[in-house]
Amino acid sequence: MMNLDAIDPVRLPQLLAGMPKAELHIHIEGSLEPELIFALSKKNGIAIPYASVEELRRAYAFSDLQSFLDIYYAGASVLITEQDFFDMAWAYLQKAAADNVLRTEIFFDPQTHTARGVAMETVIAGLHRACTEAGPKLGVSADLILCFLRHLSEEDAFETLEQALPWRDKFIGVGLDSSEVGHPPEKFARVFARCRELGLRLVAHAGEEGPPEYVWAALDVLRVERIDHGVQSSRDAALMARLAKDRVPLTVCPLSNLKLCVFPDLAQHNLGALLDAGLAATVNSDDPAYFGGYVNDNYLQTFAATGLTVRHAYQLARNGFEAAFVSEAERRRLLDRVDDYFARA
Ligand code: ADE
Ligand code: ZN
Repeated sequence: MMNLDAIDPVRLPQLLAGMPKAELHIHIEGSLEPELIFALSKKNGIAIPYASVEELRRAYAFSDLQSFLDIYYAGASVLITEQDFFDMAWAYLQKAAADNVLRTEIFFDPQTHTARGVAMETVIAGLHRACTEAGPKLGVSADLILCFLRHLSEEDAFETLEQALPWRDKFIGVGLDSSEVGHPPEKFARVFARCRELGLRLVAHAGEEGPPEYVWAALDVLRVERIDHGVQSSRDAALMARLAKDRVPLTVCPLSNLKLCVFPDLAQHNLGALLDAGLAATVNSDDPAYFGGYVNDNYLQTFAATGLTVRHAYQLARNGFEAAFVSEAERRRLLDRVDDYFARA
C-alpha cells in the first residue's frame, strides 16, 4: 500500500532525484554546454565571439527570452556534421539517464541549421542515431519533435516540413518555438493543420512570455495536445478551468522561467498553484546548458524554494508519463514504475 503522507519531507531531495521521470520539454540545442561549443568551434573552424568557456558562461545573464535566443542561436552555429549532432544528443541523454529520466521527447530546431547550409538529413540522422542507442545503452526511451521557428514565416515552416518528410519515421511530432510575443499561433494555422493530417503529434510554446490568448489559440486554432510553458495561463480563470477540465499537459520549466525573468524568483513560481488548480503540469529543463540545471536541478531547486510536498512530487512524476507520447501499454508500465517507487519509498 502506498501512503504518501508517511514519507518524511526531509527525504524529498533524494526522493525527487531517484524518481522515475519523463522530460517533455528539452531543446537539444539548449543542451550544448560551453565546453562542447568551444571544442566544435575549434574542430569545425567556426569562430564564436567569445575568448573562453568562462567568458561565454559569463554572457549567460539574460533579461528576457530574446536576450537568450540571440546567444542560443550563436552557440548552435558550431554544429556541422552528423557526428556533431549525435555527440550533442548523446551528452544530453547521458545526463537524462543520470537523472532517472525513463522517457524523453526532444525538440530540435532544423531551420537554425538548414539556413546555414547543413542538410536536414545530417541533423535528423545524428539526433535519431543517439535516440535509437539510448534505449539499449542507457535505458532511456527517446523520440524527436521538430520545432518550427515562429519568428520566421509560415511559408518557411512549410518548406521545412517538406524537407523533413523523407525522414517522417524519425520524428513523432512538431512544435513551435523561438520569439513568442508578436508571433501568435494563428500565424501557423495551416502548417499545423497539414501536420495533423500527416498524423504528427502537435505541441506549441504558448504563455511563456505571451498572453493567455496565445494559449487559447494554440489549443483551438493549432489544436495542440500539450502546451509548452503555459505559465501565463494563471492570469485567465476561464483558461485555467479549460486546461484543468481537459487535463491539457503543461510542460513547465522553472529554472528557464527564473533565468528569463518570467518570475522574479523561484519562490514566486506558480507551479504549485497550477497543480493545486488541477492542471496536468510537468517539470522540464528547456535549455539546461544555459539555465543552470538539468531536470533534477529543476525539481530540487523548485521544491526547495516553494515548499511543494511529497504529494506534488508523486503527481508530477505521474503527469509526465500521462502526458508522454507513448503507447498505452508503455504508459501503464511507466506509471507502474512510479507507483512502485513511491510504495517502496
Ligand atoms: N527555444 C529554445 N528555448 C526556448 C524557449 N524557452 N522559448 C522559446 N523558444 C525557445
Ligand atoms: Zn522551450
